[in-house]
Amino acid sequence: MVDSEDTRKQIAKRIAILNEQLGNYNYQYYVLDSPTIPDAEYDKLFRELLELEEKHPELITINSSTQRVGAKPLAKFQAVKHHQPMLSLNNAFDQKEVLAFDERIRKRLSLSETDFIDYVCEVKLDGLAVSLCYEKGVLVQAATRGDGMTGEDVTQNIRTLKAIPLQLRGQRWPAFIEIRGEVYISTKGFLALNIAQMKNNEKTFANPRNAAAGSLRQLDPHITAKRPLAFIAYGVGEKSADLPDTHFELLQTLKEWGLPINAESEQVNGIAACLSYYQKILKKRDKLAYEIDGVVYKVNSYLQQNELGFIARAPRFAIAHKFPAIEVLTTLLGVDFQVGRTGVLTPVARLKPVFVGGATVSNATLHNMDEIARKDIRIGDEVIVRRAGDVIPEVVGVVGTALKFREKETSPIQLPQHCPICKADVERIEGEAAARCTGGLSCPAQRKEGIKHFVSRKAMDIEGIGDKLVEQLVDENLIHDAADLFSLDKTTLANLDRMGDKSAENIVQALLKSKQTTLARFIYALGIREVGEATARNLVKHFTHLDAIMSANIEALSAVEDVGPVVASHVSLFFKQPHNCEVIEKLKKAGVSWVEMPGSQSASGKLANQTFVLTGTLASMTRDEAKERIESLGGKVINSVSTKTTYVVAGRDPGSKLGKAESLQVPVLDEAAFLALLK
Ligand code: IVH
Repeated sequence: MVDSEDTRKQIAKRIAILNEQLGNYNYQYYVLDSPTIPDAEYDKLFRELLELEEKHPELITINSSTQRVGAKPLAKFQAVKHHQPMLSLNNAFDQKEVLAFDERIRKRLSLSETDFIDYVCEVKLDGLAVSLCYEKGVLVQAATRGDGMTGEDVTQNIRTLKAIPLQLRGQRWPAFIEIRGEVYISTKGFLALNIAQMKNNEKTFANPRNAAAGSLRQLDPHITAKRPLAFIAYGVGEKSADLPDTHFELLQTLKEWGLPINAESEQVNGIAACLSYYQKILKKRDKLAYEIDGVVYKVNSYLQQNELGFIARAPRFAIAHKFPAIEVLTTLLGVDFQVGRTGVLTPVARLKPVFVGGATVSNATLHNMDEIARKDIRIGDEVIVRRAGDVIPEVVGVVGTALKFREKETSPIQLPQHCPICKADVERIEGEAAARCTGGLSCPAQRKEGIKHFVSRKAMDIEGIGDKLVEQLVDENLIHDAADLFSLDKTTLANLDRMGDKSAENIVQALLKSKQTTLARFIYALGIREVGEATARNLVKHFTHLDAIMSANIEALSAVEDVGPVVASHVSLFFKQPHNCEVIEKLKKAGVSWVEMPGSQSASGKLANQTFVLTGTLASMTRDEAKERIESLGGKVINSVSTKTTYVVAGRDPGSKLGKAESLQVPVLDEAAFLALLK
């Protein structure tokens, strides 16, 4: 049946409305960062548009939301000459270089001592630069930076990025404009992409930058479309009409046209304010949703920018102030295998020492054999080492991808067949990434790690016994298992290397103090595979008594909150092993004990149904201890005071919670009253 002219007009109108709506939703999501409709609703409109267009292909416009993907794979990228060159930035690595930059330009602009420059401070995203050409508001071409003069035509791929408008919003754009910005991948997007790559047995990416570059430079736009690529605009190149007088205003204009800009950008006065911006962003670095390698300062006034001009391939009016690198290159000298508490062998890279993320690193984890195979890392390779924040340094990959053409002699990394410590067999269970030493507690490495865990803060919390001391005690055969710690006396300890009388005495006292514990801490301290603090607490909540946990079968254990069949079998297996039961007996004999609950903790404790808020410092116990005591009596500790709070416990130097308690008329206990309540 042929549609009447009227119907056709109506359909064309509906298509236009749908496209406008989808464009608006994209703008709200990607530019304003405030989505207004659920994804499902968006998908519904998108499907409606697809169906209408399928029936009326003659009504499809190049800018339709459906036309982002669809192009066929290319044989190769075409070269594109940029209308204006894409420059790079000069770098400053310290404050001195930044001050010199400001000094230089103030001199060139003949400014007086008291004349400060207006700057725009931006983050320096770690992705790749692209140039987008818009003609009459329509995206006609997109290119990578290339050598700055000529890049690669990635138009098909750029069109798949929903953050990039196919049509600029409003009307006030020049008839022709090159918009410059960075294509990048968020940290979350990067992790998700690598997981997907692993699942599909595809190569993983060393960092978000490589992932972004690899994803944009795909000959098949269908692949690019599946990658979580993001974009922000930070400038313009050639343009056919005048734009605002300042860079900061330009950014706002770009946003009005529908281009995402970065939310951290700020206009400031004077170079000192730039340096404060640097500190502020450096502090925030780990919390940002994407990786940055520094900040950029740009002279705000375009008049001043033009007066300053360029040197070589970089502008005089802008500078990148770099952060300390979190990724550097070094040589992999060798690999050692460390044996953990549960026997897992972790390959540890021995590196040519290198300064990264603010510290010198000579060891870094290689995770496991699968990772090594996936990254094809060999001894002698130039590797990328990464150290960010508090994270353990890791080897993320090998430099260069043409691994077949390694220039140097390198040798493969092999999993040892025997434990490097106790020489027991190493086994690798099908389907598991980890290889394990089968030596169990006969392996000194496993025993050491088990004891380190036992004494740790969240376990038995024995102060003064650190990793080094545990190793020394095991190596000198002074202890064999965790229970032996409690038979150490002051003389034995004081005779150890680097140990004074005072420290020995402190350790004896700490051991004594730790004997009074809670059942949850005790269970956690045993170091059962996959039993963390939360699981230990759940086990106690469910079974109340140690005997009940020890004798529970897999079925009974699986009934515990958050305990699945795997954890249940680890627990069951642990208590079936005679040597584990012997150690538990020994610990109990040594005096390790906890308050036995009469029944289920929360229902019957004397503080059942009471909620507490703690503020200030108590003289007789830490906050964690106070919390434990309250919980062991069935009470609950929460963070903020409300009318439902039973008591506020106020120690020395209480915070604002005390005032809140008073204003809400919640009873306040001082330390003495609190201790009396616990008795
Ligand atoms: S402006 C004329 N601003 O850094 C200056 N670049 O080393 C052109 N980059 O190729 C660049 N964030 O890929 C500028 N806020 C930002 C940036 C930024 C990242 C990258 C860009 C450029 C490189 C220059």
